[in-house]
Formats: sequence, structure tokens, C-alpha cells
Amino acid sequence: MEITWLGHSGIKLKGSKTIYIDPFLTGNPAASTTPDEINEADVVVVTHHHGDHLGDAFTICKKTGATCVCIHEISVDAEAEGITTEGMNIGGTIETKGVKVHMVQALHSAEKGDPAGVVIEMDGKTIYHAGDTGLTYDMKLIGEFFKPDLSFLPIGDRYTMGIPSAAKAVEFIQTKKVIPIHYNTFPVVSADPEEFKKRVGDKAEVIILNPGDSYDL
Ligand code: NI
Ligand code: MN
Repeated sequence: MEITWLGHSGIKLKGSKTIYIDPFLTGNPAASTTPDEINEADVVVVTHHHGDHLGDAFTICKKTGATCVCIHEISVDAEAEGITTEGMNIGGTIETKGVKVHMVQALHSAEKGDPAGVVIEMDGKTIYHAGDTGLTYDMKLIGEFFKPDLSFLPIGDRYTMGIPSAAKAVEFIQTKKVIPIHYNTFPVVSADPEEFKKRVGDKAEVIILNPGDSYDL
């Protein structure tokens, strides 16, 4: 599976299906692509209703015919715009196009519906995208129950976990690999990913990407 960081919390997973998570591209100074350049998508996952996560999700769904997987309150809006949706809520699992998405808790806020994280299963790999969240003991449960091969964790502080709490989260999740996100997009979320890597130490493999970089999982 090819994993590409689009900048901020935006991720592209390209395996048997193409999945976008939190594609905030328009207005994102760190974005590595634009919605104009995206012509193929099967599933678009939105973690919560904040502009830097919902971003261009609806635009991409309309253009590609991708299914929007999101919390119920966002799916109502998406459906009203003619988008195919899989509305869900925390604790639930949906399967669409051979991709499984489990919605899990995130400690955060949102304009509509609740904020969430997602655990995605595709091609035998399990991937956790934490969305925006503070450190929570429930991450232990995510680790025990889903055993993620790879996790995307925010490290930019102020609106989410900072480096010390994100490093603690790695311990809780027991993830094998971790890619830090939600940092250096704007000055208010400045963070040094090398410092995160140092803190995590040998607890997990920390993969530091630049926006537009890909990693083969
Ligand atoms: Ni947010
Ligand atoms: Mn955010």
C-alpha cells in the first residue's frame, strides 16, 4: 500500500482502492496537491467537521464519485449535495468497496456531530488515523482491539496532542509504525518531528514525511 502525506492531516492510501482521509487542500499552505489534480478516489473519510479536515472532501466526492465515510451529521449534509455516503458514529463499523472503517473516539470539538478517529482495514493492513485528539487512556483499547500496523498521530500541540503526549499515545496504541501529522501547516502548530522521533525511541518506527512524500507499507 502506498501512503502519501498531503500535508496537515490529509492522507492518501493507495492499495486495491484509493482512499483519502481529511483532504484539506484548498487554503492549506502545506498542501502537496489540489482537488483539480485528483481524478480518482473510491472512499473519502472525514474525521470531524472542522475546515482543516472536511476541507475538499465534498468536492473530491462529487468529482470522482467516491463514497464519503463520516459521522452521521456530516453525512446528512453530504447526501443533500448528492454525494454517496456511509454515515456512521463512534463505535460503529462500515464496509464499503472492500474497505472497513471503524469509528473511534477523539477528544476534541467539532462544528457538527462529534469528532472522531478512524481505524481503516484494507488489503490486510490496519491503519489508525487519530483525527484531532488529546491524549486519552482509551487509546490503549484501540491498541489492544485493533493492533494497528501504522498510526497517524497529531503532534502540533495547541489544538491536539503535542510531542510529549503523542509519544505517550504511541505507547498506549502499541503501533508498529507511526507517521506524525497536524504540524508545521501554520505557525501555531509548529513542531519538530525529529524531537517526536527521539521521544518515541524504540517504542515504534517513526516515519517522517514531507508533504507529497510517499511511504510503502
Ligand atoms: Ni479539529
Ligand atoms: Mn485540525
